[in-house]
Amino acid sequence: MGDQLPPLFLAPMAGVTDLAYRILARECGADVTVTEFTAASGLTRRNTYSWLKVESDPRESPFIPQIFGGIIEEMVQTVEMLQDRADVIDINFGCPAPKVCKNDAGAALLRDPDRVVSMVRACIEATEVPITVKMRLGTGSGENTALEICERLEAEGVERVCVHGRTLRQRYSGEADWDQIREISEAVSIPVIANGDVIDSSTASECLEATGASGLMIGRGAIGRPTIFNEIKRDLGWITDPPPWGEGGDAIARAWCWNRYLELCEDIYADSRNKNLKRHAVSFTKGLPGASAMRVDLHGEGNQRKLGRMVSEYLEGLASLNEATAA
Ligand SMILES: Cc1cc2nc3c(=O)[nH]c(=O)nc-3n(C[C@H](O)[C@H](O)[C@H](O)COP(=O)(O)O)c2cc1C
Repeated sequence: MGDQLPPLFLAPMAGVTDLAYRILARECGADVTVTEFTAASGLTRRNTYSWLKVESDPRESPFIPQIFGGIIEEMVQTVEMLQDRADVIDINFGCPAPKVCKNDAGAALLRDPDRVVSMVRACIEATEVPITVKMRLGTGSGENTALEICERLEAEGVERVCVHGRTLRQRYSGEADWDQIREISEAVSIPVIANGDVIDSSTASECLEATGASGLMIGRGAIGRPTIFNEIKRDLGWITDPPPWGEGGDAIARAWCWNRYLELCEDIYADSRNKNLKRHAVSFTKGLPGASAMRVDLHGEGNQRKLGRMVSEYLEGLASLNEATAA
């Protein structure tokens, strides 16, 4: 990939972008991956569950843990604890979840640009590791604050911002406002990554055109479909090499991705347990013929290995059927 091509990011998604999925997304063409958001309060209290969320692997480079919190001292302490392992640390000002926002963290902080700036400044001062920020446009009550915040954060030394073109109040409703992302990318000279509603190669090129952004971040469009990164790059003429699953159709690609995901899980999770496996199984098979019947069996399956195999057999069956029809 040439230097000037816009990088494609896999969006951080709680319950979805586990380490195995992030490595899979990279193998499928994602240039950058970020961990799901992790509470600074959990990390500073050495909560095992929180530390599991910020696990990485040499295959995931750069490694970018995403953190959130409402208490500046805790955020600074977290940055200090992560700095030896992280290549970049990302701070979340985008989460709309009430349990996060009620603690004045996530997107709720966008109502108070001074506080966002103080928090990020304190984190930047605490470390040599580059700090990036992911945010929404604003809270949705009063003027949107993302533009002001991005301008001020650039002055503080933030390396990059990612903007999801919705407000906190919107959560996931309506359409992402790419025009407001354009205003931001025109106002600052650090890279701005556009996020929201990119689901295929046409929306990818429309979003790049509309926002003038330096790169794109893809969330829901990559759930159960890690191939989206390769598809975008192929359709936009950014790559010509065949993908790791070869030249076969969608079913073959899905079967390859699922089997590869299982392989990575075996490799990464020592006890082979992965709390996201069932959710991924549902996403990987969504909308496919006979998938709803298979899903009934899937929900009753408690053994993870068996569950993995059940989905493999289903997808491989579909792939050979498609090959036979194509022949
Ligand atoms: C299931 C789910 C979990 C998410 N978790 C996070 C998270 O941990 N951190 C974060 O910054 N954004 C999170 N988001 C927001 C996404 O990163 C992204 O900003 C949003 O989905 C919009 O992009 P999209 O239209 O490409 O999905 C989450 C979104 C979804 C759907």
